Amino acid sequence: MSAIFHDERPSAVKATMNHYLLMHLLHLLAAFVFVGVVFFEVLFLGSMRKHLPDSIIRPIEKAIGNRAVQLMPWTLLLLYGSGIGMAWRYRAALADPFGNSFGLLLALKIALALSVFGHFITAMRLRRQGKLVSRLSKHIHISVFSHMLGIIVLAKLMFAVSW
Ligand code: HEM
Repeated sequence: MSAIFHDERPSAVKATMNHYLLMHLLHLLAAFVFVGVVFFEVLFLGSMRKHLPDSIIRPIEKAIGNRAVQLMPWTLLLLYGSGIGMAWRYRAALADPFGNSFGLLLALKIALALSVFGHFITAMRLRRQGKLVSRLSKHIHISVFSHMLGIIVLAKLMFAVSW
């Protein structure tokens, strides 16, 4: 039985695999937190706003916003840091994105992720200036939500399709 599970790959290959696996796990966990927060904001909070008076929903939004400001920078650091670490393995495919389907889909995924980062910076800046009014915040959340759907679909398609 133990012979079946004996791993004969060189130790340098195994170390690289473990390193990649660690980044992959961190990426998935951070994506789980980030995507979860955005889905909650859009699918739950958006609908709660319609059913609760402003005097109740405003303090809830403020408390959620304050918590997000504490949590998001670390989540994004982990998400983007691990993403860049993994993308290094695919640098050859990314250097010629129109020459291979995987590189193109990964480049699109990264472009969407960079746009999400731009949304985050804009929201933080507006919040600091006191200009992040409810309507604008809703638009930003819906836009990030749509980006997120694209990122997740691309993350799966890039390994599943080729042309
Ligand atoms: C909003 C930001 C991001 C989100 C929500 C996100 C989400 C995801 C998800 C859900 C997966 C699939 C993981 C799996 O199926 O196990 C994935 C894979 C991947 N992501 Fe991201 N990602 C983001 C940003 C980035 C960035 C900035 C990069 C690189 C610069 C990146 C590089 C990768 C790579 C290379 C994979 C493939 C991992 C593999 O299956 O081996 N991601 N991402």
